[in-house]
Amino acid sequence: MENDGGFFVSMATLIKIMLLTSLAGGVASSRPVKVTETEHYRRTLLANGLGLTPPMGWNSWNHFYCNIDEKTIKKAADALIATGLSKLGYTYVNIDDCWAELTRDEKGNSVPRKSTFPSGIKALADYVHSKGLKLGIYSDAGYFTCSKTMPGSLGHEEQDAKTFASWGIDYLKYDNCYNDGSKPTVRYPVMTRALMKCGPPIYFSLCEWGDLHPALRGAPVGNSWRTTNDIADTRESMVSRADLNEFYADYARPGGWNDPDMLEVGNGGMTEDEYMVHFSIWAISKAPLLLGCDLRNVTKDTLDIIANKEVIAVNQDPQGVQAHKVRSEGDLEIWTGPLSGYRVALLLVNRGPLRRAITANWDDLAIPPNTYVEARDLWEHKTLTTPFVGNLTATVNSHGCKMYILKPIS
Ligand SMILES: *[C@@H]1O[C@H](CO)[C@@H](O)[C@H](O)[C@H]1NC(C)=O
Ligand SMILES: *[C@@H]1O[C@H](CO)[C@@H](O)[C@H](O)[C@H]1NC(C)=O
Repeated sequence: MENDGGFFVSMATLIKIMLLTSLAGGVASSRPVKVTETEHYRRTLLANGLGLTPPMGWNSWNHFYCNIDEKTIKKAADALIATGLSKLGYTYVNIDDCWAELTRDEKGNSVPRKSTFPSGIKALADYVHSKGLKLGIYSDAGYFTCSKTMPGSLGHEEQDAKTFASWGIDYLKYDNCYNDGSKPTVRYPVMTRALMKCGPPIYFSLCEWGDLHPALRGAPVGNSWRTTNDIADTRESMVSRADLNEFYADYARPGGWNDPDMLEVGNGGMTEDEYMVHFSIWAISKAPLLLGCDLRNVTKDTLDIIANKEVIAVNQDPQGVQAHKVRSEGDLEIWTGPLSGYRVALLLVNRGPLRRAITANWDDLAIPPNTYVEARDLWEHKTLTTPFVGNLTATVNSHGCKMYILKPIS
């Protein structure tokens, strides 16, 4: 890349700051809510101690949609163990839409669908817990869930939270369909309070599709918040969600993460290189890593991506700082963010049709100019033999990426 890209970068950053400032009501700060106020809300609203690193696990929607039953969920739990993925941190087994009967019982309780979950959700939770995993469930801040085949929790928040707690649920994804037209900022905190009152901590995943910029005020309400509409298993969908999510990078932190939606890796709609880009951007963006493929017969190519320990470690770094796209010139992009131990995560992405060289300069990466670094290639699993100073150049496949951890050497 040439040096004249600098102007573009600073313009993009400036526009972003202006936009965020206007969203925040004109306060000249990238974090509009005062820290004391945030901490106050955190204590009074959501203080469940969960999500100190982004959650990892599996969710039924992206592969199975509504075609789920208790066997499917048990098999997914079994597969997380059999593949070794649970040992890498994938511990949530999350049921998405379509698990309940359309109507509540005479006491107003949500009822597991008899034809597909005949043993009930408590039995499923016991099974999943017996494997050392956690069970997630799904509801909606409206009258129905998005499939319209089961009730939402609007007006039943406390009752449903109590039911989920009684079943041993560990995670709630809370969708936004068929609501009463009121703002999500009114409806979602009701469930936050209900979950805080119902007993053991339950991870709360806000799925209101980015309406009213939840990143700006999501931390007291949920452990993560969707910044986008649903992902589809295409490259266009994946990269557009990555970009929308990047806009809010400054708002992610331990306990509250931006969520560009679940992973499509292994579902067949993208190439191997594109899925590597998908997984790398999600990891460096500190996004929840929720697998969405059929784990029963996951291929070696898919496992090579989702079981990459070094890329997972970037996602789970205790510092919890989301990467920014610091440079974007035509099809070539540089994403970077700090890691613990003065290390830097670097992702070079080529969105174009041709294999191209990409150079990352130290000033793009906030590394002092004369610093020598050791570069670890996270996809080749190789530490490069010669140290780098000033810049690092790599040739990147069309629709592909290269990902590194840079470590200063004295
Ligand atoms: C994966 O396994 C399931 C059941 O074990 C089967 O129904 C499905 O067709 C398999 N998919 C592929 C792509 O082999
Ligand atoms: C990278 O840095 C070296 C010196 O460390 C310099 O000679 C070279 O021109 C730089 N390359 C690019 C593409 O900026």
